[in-house]
This record gives sequence, C-alpha cells and structure tokens, in this order.
Amino acid sequence: MTYSKTEPVLLDDEQVRSYITDGYIKLDYSVPAEVHEAIAVKLDRMLELGPNLGNNVLPHAPEFRHILNAPEVRGALISLLGSDYIEHPHRYCHNMAPFDEAPEDIVEAVGKRAHQDSYTPMARPRQHYPRYARIIYYPRDTPVLHGPTHVTPGTQFNKRVTEEDRATAMPMEGPAGSLWITHFDVVHAAGVNLSDATRHMIKFIYIRRTEPQTPSWNCDSERWQNPGTVEATYDNEVAWSHMWDWMCGKSDRCESFRSAAANDADVTELIGALSDDDVHGSLAAIRQLAVPKPAAAGEAVSALAELLNKDHQAVRAAATYALATIGEAAIDPLIARVKEAGAAGWEDGAQAMWNEGTVHLLDEAHALAGMGAPAVPALIDLLDSPDEWTRINAAFALGEMESAAAEAVPALTRCLDDDSHRVVRTALDSLGTIGENSDQYLPRMRRFLVETQTSWDEVLTGKRAWSARDQVRLNAATAMARLGPAAASAEGELIHALEDPCGYVGLLATDALQHLGSETANQAVMDLVMAQRWDSSLYPERPW
Ligand SMILES: [Fe+2]
Repeated sequence: MTYSKTEPVLLDDEQVRSYITDGYIKLDYSVPAEVHEAIAVKLDRMLELGPNLGNNVLPHAPEFRHILNAPEVRGALISLLGSDYIEHPHRYCHNMAPFDEAPEDIVEAVGKRAHQDSYTPMARPRQHYPRYARIIYYPRDTPVLHGPTHVTPGTQFNKRVTEEDRATAMPMEGPAGSLWITHFDVVHAAGVNLSDATRHMIKFIYIRRTEPQTPSWNCDSERWQNPGTVEATYDNEVAWSHMWDWMCGKSDRCESFRSAAANDADVTELIGALSDDDVHGSLAAIRQLAVPKPAAAGEAVSALAELLNKDHQAVRAAATYALATIGEAAIDPLIARVKEAGAAGWEDGAQAMWNEGTVHLLDEAHALAGMGAPAVPALIDLLDSPDEWTRINAAFALGEMESAAAEAVPALTRCLDDDSHRVVRTALDSLGTIGENSDQYLPRMRRFLVETQTSWDEVLTGKRAWSARDQVRLNAATAMARLGPAAASAEGELIHALEDPCGYVGLLATDALQHLGSETANQAVMDLVMAQRWDSSLYPERPW
C-alpha cells in the first residue's frame, strides 16, 4: 500500500502523445473488485449519514490508496508529472442521484453542464503546460445510463467553453474501477443519471513539483509526432509539439515543430488563408506561419498576434505557439501588447480574466513564456509597470519558463511586497516553478506563513469563505513544497503552518516538511499524522 512496495508501470510514447492532444487518457490497471465495492459502500454510507466530506473523503475511505498507488496509476502520474509529484489536498466525491424525469434532449442537457474546473481554494492561472492533472474514478459500473462525466477532447487550452465544445462532449463510461487522468483545464460535464442508483465519481488532483529534465515515461523517441488516433476536433500540432518538448525537458520547447515544419510558403498567401469560416484551413496556414522565411517574419507576427485572445479556442492556441516558435521577431510586438492590455485598465477588461475561481492570462504571456530565455529581459522590465494586469502577466510568463528565467528572481522577489495580492500570488507561484536562487526570496517568502497582517482578509469566494491572504499563504507553502530540501531555512515557519486556519496551507506545509527530510521536520509531520488518524470503521450506531 505504500509507494515503495510496487514498481510503477510507466506510460509509453503513444499514451503521452494522446494525453497531450486530447487532454486525457484512460488507464487500464488491476485492483481486486472488492476494493472498488468497499469504497462504494463507504461513499453510500457518507451520503446516508450527512454532508459530503469533501477533501476528507480520502480518510473516510482510505481504500482509495489502493487505487492511487496501483502500479499503473502511479506510473501514469510519474510519466505525466515527474516522479516527485504533489498530491493536492483537494479531492471530491461527486454524487449524482437518479433524475426524476429524463430531459428531452440528453446531449443538450449534458452540454449545458460543460465547464472548466475552478482552482481551489482560490484562483490560479489556467495552465497550458500540463502541470496539473485530475484523476476521475468510478467505484461502480458507470455506463452512459448512469450519467458518467463527459469530456470534450482537445479543449485543455481553452479560455472559455464554446457551443461546439458543449455539443461534442464524450461520455467517460466504463465498468467499476474505471479511471482517467485528465489535464486539469479540459472541458468536462456531468452526465444525466437515468438509472435507479446514485452515481459516484471521485476526483483527485495532482501537481508537478519540479521542472521536466528528461522524459519521465518509457520514451523511445523525443521527436514529436501526432498519435495514431486523435480525438480532438482540430489539429493543433504547433501547440502539442510544444507541450511534448517541454515534457521532454528540452531547453527549446519549439524544437520539434521548427525542425519538422520548415517551408517556403508565401506569407502573404498564408495570411490570406486565415478565415473565420474555415478553421481547419486557418490552422493549416498558422502551422506554416510559425516557420516563415526570415524576411517575412514581421508580417507573420502581425497576422498571428491578431488571432490571440480571439474567440476560436483552437485558433488562438495555435497562434500562441506559432508566435513562440517564431521567437525573437515576436518579442517586441508581444511585449507592446501586454503593456497595452495593462494600460487599458483593470476595471475595463482585465478584471473579467480574473475571478476567484480562475485566472486567464493573456495569450501573449503564454507565447512569451514559450520562447524562454530571449524574452526574459523584456519581461523583467514589465514587472516595474504601473499597471497591475501587466505585472501579473509578466510574472506569470517568467514562472512558466522555469529555470530559464533564473535571472528574474531578484525582480520577482521585489514583487512579494507589491500592494496587489494578485501580483504577490502570481510571483509566489512563479518563484516556485523557477526553483532557482531560493536563498534570495525565502527570507521574505517564509514570513507570509507567520505574519498576521489584516490586509487582504476580506472573504472573496462566497460559499467557500476564503480570503486572498489564505491563498497567499497557500502559494507560499506550495512554492516551498516545490523547493524540497532547498526550503530548509523555512522549517520553523512550515511547522507553524501545520495549524494554519486554512487546511490547504497546512496540508501543503506537510508535504513541504516531508520533502525537507530533516529529523525535526519528519517528527512534526508524524506528530500531526498521529493526531489526525481517522477510524473509518466508526458510525453513529458504533461510535467507539
Ligand atoms: Fe468539474
């Protein structure tokens, strides 16, 4: 039942390619049927007794560990997130009672429920790089009649759910124990339960801890190719190959596409082929615009930049990574657009991109991030912008570059004293993903876990009742968890955080302490675990 007892079964190239193109894969794994049923019975019991236990569903049914630690499941998480992935404190059992009356149009009823998940407890930026993954698991048979979760393939780069996404959701159906891993941001929807039994679907969230250095799956070839079967509606090879190169740990994340797609096409003709009425044709043109003849690079950049943040989600994602592939010629125009967006004013537009469930950063920020080192100096300059939205986008883009943005650490450290909690939260995440020169920022970062300022204490999430201050502490604890032993100087603050009023903070601090590896950190974790042990055999009629 522990990590060390079983050898993980890693994914192969084709499985990883499918995850990148479609945003999910189904896993075959082997766990005795009685484990699934034992979990289902405990979930039935949870419903019978009272409130949904939310994040505490795991201690309520610790048999989940047999699923999450199965060699194939753990191997898939290692393949997609690296061997030292973090188990996020959030998990949830979505129970769906049978419908009283069947809707007239099932497809429409499912489509209405299509959404991208909020981050929890509060907003974080949507990620193009697959750093966040979600497990979807059913302990009992869940054919279409029982209302399985649906997924819309290829929508993991979306900023919103389109009507087309709603209409093309596919059921994730299967027998007891069926399990998928999905990109966190992929569009999905609850099904319609027309059976006579409650359906249980449980999700678990995982996060990559460290920057990819080499493929963490069974990789035969580091050159991208589309998988044999693609479920996504649109060919987004320019974005897909970028994600693959990142997962392979390449310093140039555009290497596969640039080397495979060189062409002599006429840029003016390609621009003429961009059309709202022909998405496939536009995507084909964008693929060629990503590798223009040098003399026409400026023309290609102008045309591609006009496609950013636009309505068609596949087109804007393709344009984003085409610009990243062009590289240096696109830096100044994209930086100018980030400045312009910030100057346009928070109230007038950018605010719509940041609600306290999710943040949608500018496509320009994703494109600059995809270029890596050449874009770092210009982004560092943007951190001094008077405009909050500009500083947020610049801090985010630098964090997405990971160690390639190491020279941004001093400027991002200064951002930790920004008046905007949004800038501070973004900078904390970025420092965590950059992971370098932590001695420069840990003295400031660790104070977030213990200081008692009253600013940013306003509840911003309605029913969830969390404040920006809670999320600041969570992001600080997450960054320290990413650092591993390099966070040693924060041990005292992390131990203090074990009793944080926001449970997410305490749970991330537990993870961070576990990875410090010192005797005192391990003892603090064990003391907490011993105090929080849960006897899942007790019920109201058997209270001791
Ligand atoms: Fe959801």
